[in-house]
Amino acid sequence: MQQEPVPFERLESFLEKLGLTQQALAVLEPHREVFTSRQEAFGQFFLDYFLGIPRTRLILEQNHAAQRHKKALSHWFGALFSQDLDRRFLTYLWNSGVRHVQLSLDQRFVNLGYAVTRQFCQRLIQEQVPAPEREALTALVDRMLDFCVLAATDSFISMTSRCDREMIQGIAHQVRNPVTVIGGNIMRLLKKIPPDNPNRQAYETVLAENQRLERMVADIALYTEMFQGEPRPQPCSLVQALDRAVQHLREAGRLEGVRLRLELDPALPPVNLDPKDLEIIFAQLLENAAEAADKADPRVEVRSRPGRAPGFVEVEIFNTGPAPGPEQVQELLSPFSSSKPMGTGMGLPIAGLAARRGLGSLSLEAAPGGVRCLLNLPLAGGEAAGPA
Ligand code: HEM
Repeated sequence: MQQEPVPFERLESFLEKLGLTQQALAVLEPHREVFTSRQEAFGQFFLDYFLGIPRTRLILEQNHAAQRHKKALSHWFGALFSQDLDRRFLTYLWNSGVRHVQLSLDQRFVNLGYAVTRQFCQRLIQEQVPAPEREALTALVDRMLDFCVLAATDSFISMTSRCDREMIQGIAHQVRNPVTVIGGNIMRLLKKIPPDNPNRQAYETVLAENQRLERMVADIALYTEMFQGEPRPQPCSLVQALDRAVQHLREAGRLEGVRLRLELDPALPPVNLDPKDLEIIFAQLLENAAEAADKADPRVEVRSRPGRAPGFVEVEIFNTGPAPGPEQVQELLSPFSSSKPMGTGMGLPIAGLAARRGLGSLSLEAAPGGVRCLLNLPLAGGEAAGPA
């Protein structure tokens, strides 16, 4: 498992938010020895506690890890109370989280470990610190342990999402190659089969399903990438993003035969979204609407109006066709649920995720003669949208 770089900036911002400044840490200065003199006892206490839980006992007994962990915990406790919370310590703390992920340790046990550490520290303070100084010291130690929990959670999330991402990208890569080979061969075979051959239909079905699989792999990879990546919001023009998405879909032949009416107000203020997310939203929603539109009257209409809350704009994407019932609406917004035989069921979930990443929302509702997607997106600078 490759390691992520330690996210110093984020960890340092946690320190700042928790008020763990040099000045605040001065409260600890006269009492460091209360803790460092008990680091061996802490290691033993921690070990005994987790040997008492069947699952963690098994982990600690594996490869004789119990004694090593007792030593590691003593060292960690000593370091926490004798060192500055500098980058060296942050690296040490974060790497212990990485080690736990490598061991597939349930993060809930680690959090329990911090709760137990808190109890140990409170007892020490109660027994060894003069009464007038206890309250301030307890509050400081609590914040130090809160910080450790945040750092451990950070490394847990970073490492597990990296594992998930690598796994999904691996699957996507492994599936893509055979799918491409199958597609290429079927196309070659199809060219040799006359149109009236009774087997042609079967070949065409294999080809269509193969293309669906190809799109599914690409959609899942995109969804995972977006789910785990950090959005980079910035002011973007809705009209330009919509134009780009339309152009792209037209070039790919996905809007053929569809009557498109685009009624976004060109004077709309910019929205605050990651530009890639905004393009993905429009591309997915327009493609979805075009595919779902009534074949007898294939219409897709895009318009805007002020949002449901101040500082938001609402964009409506309407298509003709059968309207979903209330229970079907929720299903359609969840992955792998599609009303179209060749759909991947990922278009609406991807668009919904992209909207949520930008602190917006996506909903779906029946409309006279069809269905409409309602996008609520935040405006840059929190401006209120004027009428479209
Ligand atoms: C307050 C919570 C905890 C802290 C601060 C902590 C700290 C550490 C540290 C500093 C290491 C050494 C990392 C390295 O060598 O790079 C480590 C390793 C390890 N931890 Fe924890 N740990 C905690 C909770 C737990 C719990 C609850 C378990 C449950 C069994 C556990 C199991 C392990 C194991 C098995 C290792 C590897 C030991 C080895 O093979 O050398 N840890 N931990």
